[in-house]
Amino acid sequence: MALLPIITAPDPRLKLKAKPVVGVDDKVRRLMDDMLETMYHAIGIGLAAPQVGAQHRVLVIDVAREGEKPQRMRIANPEILWRSEEMATANEGCLSLPEHYADVERPRAIRLRYLDHENEIREIDAEGLLATCLQHEIDHLDGLLFVDHVSSLKRGMILRKLAKTKRARAMAAD
Ligand code: NI
Repeated sequence: MALLPIITAPDPRLKLKAKPVVGVDDKVRRLMDDMLETMYHAIGIGLAAPQVGAQHRVLVIDVAREGEKPQRMRIANPEILWRSEEMATANEGCLSLPEHYADVERPRAIRLRYLDHENEIREIDAEGLLATCLQHEIDHLDGLLFVDHVSSLKRGMILRKLAKTKRARAMAAD
């Protein structure tokens, strides 16, 4: 397994629509495993392939809390089959928008179909944190970030700060 560099916003690669995988083969499994390692290392609970520069509809999630048994999920070609009418608000963060958080409203529960790491079709019902996290990661596959769900004022503020941090880092590296 290997740690992959995580792309931070603003970056045009985070705005692309990722392509479905043909199937989950060794190459995709390897990507999933590298993404899991990268996610755990960065202390995140979800990571989507476009965040590591791979334009595939692949994501990994583990919403287990500290001290709980890991619940790693390796997901390809996710498809939301149903969304609850009831909405829920969660304070979201993202490894591509480090140190920024915002309240985002999304359906409270979803039903999801996907291909797992063994290329088996699975269907699950998710609610709460898992539903939030799945929807957040699926957004990445469509080129959307959590800031695309908040006011343009707040989005502009966060993206400007991130751009400034990036410029400062680039100058320091020169
Ligand atoms: Ni994210």
